[in-house]
Amino acid sequence: MPEPDSNAPYNIALLGCGTVGGGVARLLLEQPQRLAARAGRPLVLRRVLVRDPGKPRDPVLPPQLLTTDLSAIVRDPEIHLAVEVAGGVDWARKVILDLLAAGKDVVTANKALLAEHGQEIFDTGRRHGRAVAFEASVGGGVPIIAALTQSLAANRIISLQGILNGTCNFILTGMSEHGRSYAEALADAQKHGYAEADPSLDVNGTDAAQKLAILAQIAFGVAVPVDQISCRGIANIQAADIRFARELGYTIKLLAEAWLDGNQLSLHVSPVLLRHLTPLAQVRDAFNAINVIGDAVGHTLYYGRGAGQMPTASAVTADIIDMAVGRAQRTFATLSLWSGKDNGVTLRSRETVRTRFYLRLLIQDRPGVLADVARLLANHGISISSVIQHEALEGHEGDTVPLVIVTHTAPTGSVLATLAEIDRMPSVTAPSVHFPMED
Ligand code: NAP
Ligand code: HSE
Repeated sequence: MPEPDSNAPYNIALLGCGTVGGGVARLLLEQPQRLAARAGRPLVLRRVLVRDPGKPRDPVLPPQLLTTDLSAIVRDPEIHLAVEVAGGVDWARKVILDLLAAGKDVVTANKALLAEHGQEIFDTGRRHGRAVAFEASVGGGVPIIAALTQSLAANRIISLQGILNGTCNFILTGMSEHGRSYAEALADAQKHGYAEADPSLDVNGTDAAQKLAILAQIAFGVAVPVDQISCRGIANIQAADIRFARELGYTIKLLAEAWLDGNQLSLHVSPVLLRHLTPLAQVRDAFNAINVIGDAVGHTLYYGRGAGQMPTASAVTADIIDMAVGRAQRTFATLSLWSGKDNGVTLRSRETVRTRFYLRLLIQDRPGVLADVARLLANHGISISSVIQHEALEGHEGDTVPLVIVTHTAPTGSVLATLAEIDRMPSVTAPSVHFPMED
């Protein structure tokens, strides 16, 4: 396909017009002058692919742009760029490979797709001399991809620590600050358009793990299959954990973390107790925040709306402008993302990571139980830092009560092995709860 004239209109096909696509269409159709000034040329929305053309749409969208004919978009030589905001993995993979082969550049917000098929998609782009941009795939409106690939390019990245899932953060804020139930808060997140089509991907930590896999590729040059990332979601956090965490001076957040120790990379997604006044503990609702430490720059922090229509559309549209200017194509050509090169970095087993732990056990309130639990911890070399057991209101000896134990730093593997033993005690109601704690 001939390269577009650098001042000629730049023609775009939108694949998907739901939460994100609807926002991108609004920006393109309502702000043509602003965007043309930034891109140096008019950005023209030429086609909008949807599944159901009969669905009610934003009135700003001219109905004649809607189509269900994907092959006409792939074949249309006038379309320079396709913006994939439909979601899914298998369908989106095939469509993007076909579009790249047909000579079109691609913008996508699809983290599930890139985490699974990034290498194939980037290789195909490189082979066809096309580019793929994906700012909206991590952090919604937070420009973390641009920060890592451009602004921090002089650094060796040492660590990343982030709240990467807006839905989970929204649910945890709702539970801890507004006394909402988990189910109410999740339904509200869905209503706001924060959740994935399958919200179990949000709450079980998969969405954050997919985003972490993308960041690990950019920051550390490592292609990690999502199923190799140690991953726990928020579904087993109970109101009691939120209350005990608060009593201890902590807030529970779903964190995605990556850090390099020599050539060993630790990657995990887990609920973590964070001290109240730390910046990430202050991130509320569907906001995301990512701490990045580089060897030259030191600490940096990126913060903003991590999900929802217009924040995500902001990131997608920035990629569209970068493509229209021709910047994204140059950046893409110099990035060796998912190139398959081995840089010697290996994954560190989660079991060996040392951290402090919050443990919540349900025990029988009778003589010797606390001593038995303490003995088992001591046998594994795990030191107790503090303990909470409240007197049960109108409780009787022998009733079950929660026992919260905060440990000193210990290897994760030892803590898990000890908890398994504790859970086999007849005086303990399994399963016990454990979350790492960080200052
Ligand atoms: P959505 O609201 O469910 O919208 C999906 C859109 O794609 C709909 O317009 C749907 O058509 C269309 N579509 C889906 N499959 C199609 C197919 N096979 N053929 C034609 N059209 C198809 O999803 P979304 O929330 O906008 O998310 C889209 C993508 O952005 C996902 O990859 C998601 O992970 C990512 N993302 C979302 C957010 C967010 O906050 N929502 C943030 C960052 C990234 P109909 O309208 O006819 O059903
Ligand atoms: N479902 C995702 C979230 C959308 O809640 O963070 C943004 O990627």
